[in-house]
Amino acid sequence: MGEGGRQANGASVTEDLPLDSPVLVMRNQKIECESTELLGRKKDAMCATSGLIPLGSFNARWIFRKLISERLERRGYSIRKVSELTRLADQFGSDKGTRLSAHMYTRVYEKFFAAFRHQAICLLEIGLLRSDIDARRVVCATEGESNASASSAPSLEMWSVYFSNAKLFGFDIDDFSRVSIDRCTIIRGDMSSRSDLANLVRVIGRPIDILIDDASHASAHQQIALGALFPHMRRGGLYVIEDLHWQHDSLEKEGVPKTRDLLRHLQTQGTFASPCLTSEEQNYIRQHTGQVWLFDSLTHEVDDNSDAIALLVKK
Ligand SMILES: C[S@@+](CC[C@H](N)C(=O)[O-])C[C@H]1O[C@@H](n2cnc3c(N)ncnc32)[C@H](O)[C@@H]1O
Repeated sequence: MGEGGRQANGASVTEDLPLDSPVLVMRNQKIECESTELLGRKKDAMCATSGLIPLGSFNARWIFRKLISERLERRGYSIRKVSELTRLADQFGSDKGTRLSAHMYTRVYEKFFAAFRHQAICLLEIGLLRSDIDARRVVCATEGESNASASSAPSLEMWSVYFSNAKLFGFDIDDFSRVSIDRCTIIRGDMSSRSDLANLVRVIGRPIDILIDDASHASAHQQIALGALFPHMRRGGLYVIEDLHWQHDSLEKEGVPKTRDLLRHLQTQGTFASPCLTSEEQNYIRQHTGQVWLFDSLTHEVDDNSDAIALLVKK
């Protein structure tokens, strides 16, 4: 998107460009074009000469779309087709779509999650808030604990709409007691604490089909959570870790490798060695990982956005 460009979704197109715009008017079930010059660009000479096309005909739809696109692009909008999950992420204020950091992880989720969409699955997301995170950063300097009480959980709201029959669990270090979402339970805890994670597993009380780690992004925390939670995934389940390309310096520990590097090794060599995990936990991850998928973030915020999201398929 160019500088100053804005994005258009279906809603803003119709709001900004009503049918009675200077270019097109709708009268008596016909689209009437006031500019034969614009119509003349269409190869079909019939349209150019009549200037009056039955609404709903192929020509009318084609011309309408083309004119709308041209006008929006002139106004600085970028036009592209948006998937349902991307639209939901943008609507609720998550950065998984095209807003905020604009990772566009939704393009990956559309592919991997579609099969689960209407099943009675169990989904857990670690790390819940995005919409007011910058305000909370002022309070706590990092993405760690703050005193602020959250008023929304954008990604859980998006999952609640997308997965029609899922039971959802959220986990966050901050206070989400004010947030209420359909079919969703939110548990407070620290992903770097083994006892908090054990409590989380107890509350969930069933195998997890989809787990998304979008919390502190600290390497040690990601590895502790993976070691503690992967055994509680269902066979065929998906364990996802977001933002492997970005770690806050203040949370990184000497001697702890980046999770992205560990997962690259797991993918290419079948090895996994983390100083944060017991040998049993490391063996379990090696033996029970069917596939490791790594995809880039599409954010423009960092130079290296490669292999930013990992999906581990449990076998
Ligand atoms: C990037 S935001 C989550 C964004 C959200 N998933 C979305 O897509 O809109 C990170 C969240 O992780 C939480 N968090 C940070 N450190 C944590 C920790 N150690 N344990 C659990 N949650 C943590 C923060 O409070 C924050 O709400």
